[in-house]
Amino acid sequence: MFVSSLVHGVLFMLQVPVSLGSWEEWWTYDGISGPNYWGLLNPEWSLCNIGNRQSPVDIDPSKLLFDPHLRPLQVGKKRINGIITNTGHGIVFKANSTAKAEAVYIKSGPLSYEYRVDEVHVHFGSSENFGSEHTVAGQTFPAEVQILGFNSDLYKNISEAVTKSQGIVGMALLIQVGEETNFQLRLLISQLNEVLYKGQQAILKSLSVQELLPDTHFYTTYEGSLTMPGCHETVTWLVMNKPLYITRQQLYALRQLMQGEQENPKAPLVNNFRPTQAMHRRLLRTNIDFNRRKSLQCPTMYKNMFYQANPGLQ
Ligand SMILES: *[C@@H]1O[C@H](CO)[C@@H](O)[C@H](O)[C@H]1NC(C)=O
Ligand SMILES: *[C@@H]1O[C@H](CO)[C@@H](O)[C@H](O)[C@H]1NC(C)=O
Repeated sequence: MFVSSLVHGVLFMLQVPVSLGSWEEWWTYDGISGPNYWGLLNPEWSLCNIGNRQSPVDIDPSKLLFDPHLRPLQVGKKRINGIITNTGHGIVFKANSTAKAEAVYIKSGPLSYEYRVDEVHVHFGSSENFGSEHTVAGQTFPAEVQILGFNSDLYKNISEAVTKSQGIVGMALLIQVGEETNFQLRLLISQLNEVLYKGQQAILKSLSVQELLPDTHFYTTYEGSLTMPGCHETVTWLVMNKPLYITRQQLYALRQLMQGEQENPKAPLVNNFRPTQAMHRRLLRTNIDFNRRKSLQCPTMYKNMFYQANPGLQ
């Protein structure tokens, strides 16, 4: 789908991001077009209701399974340019389609292919008590940043990959309130006043995906889905084991964004998260070796709190 839009006084023909294809736009995060009904709104979205490998999920520490074969993740160092859009469902950064050499790739970890970073989504709540999609031990976070890449070894673009096996990787960065913010997170949300209304866009330059990541090589991984329609079960998720921090002022700025166009702003664009989904028989694998690290300071989402791996699973 193409729209023309006025970005910084220049008229561009842009590809609308995210929608990850030309999905129709009338799904929401509440009411009769909310998450409980996504699968009924459109036959192509039926997995949203009947799928058994859906996302997000709760990262239950007692279910974590240490997998010694999980390698460290590798994330490219390049800085990327792109466009930030208020989609009416969220705030999405879409990387410019640039030469292959300019793109950022995610590989290794649990991945068998290289994934090209294509979109960054931001989910957030109307209060600090919720906002994230993934949860840890049942606890929600005020926000979550998701970095989505597509399998560029096998597929041409994200819209093709999203329906295909091993198509997508999603990195979930949970966000806590803190005094200081990661510089790249600040950059990512630096232009919110340019995208207050649905359809508005702003150029964003020089985003470093690598420096956006929290300072940890520990993660939990599982096989899941897109967290919005059509809920395709093609996503390998990586939930990083340390949060990023956001200030109260930045959360406040996010809550000023609106779901509708300028002429009809509708409601604030908050609480754009899907509730957690059942694990069914999936595994939550981690590269944290709890046994070996017992005497060490164990990495954790909360200061002075430890994940407990279930010894029976190890
Ligand atoms: C790519 O990013 C640059 C910013 O450096 C911007 O000027 C340009 O318009 C973008 N191209 C597209 C196709 O969005
Ligand atoms: C993505 O790739 C497919 C297959 O090559 C192609 O048909 C489609 O037009 C591409 N979509 C976009 C949005 O570039």
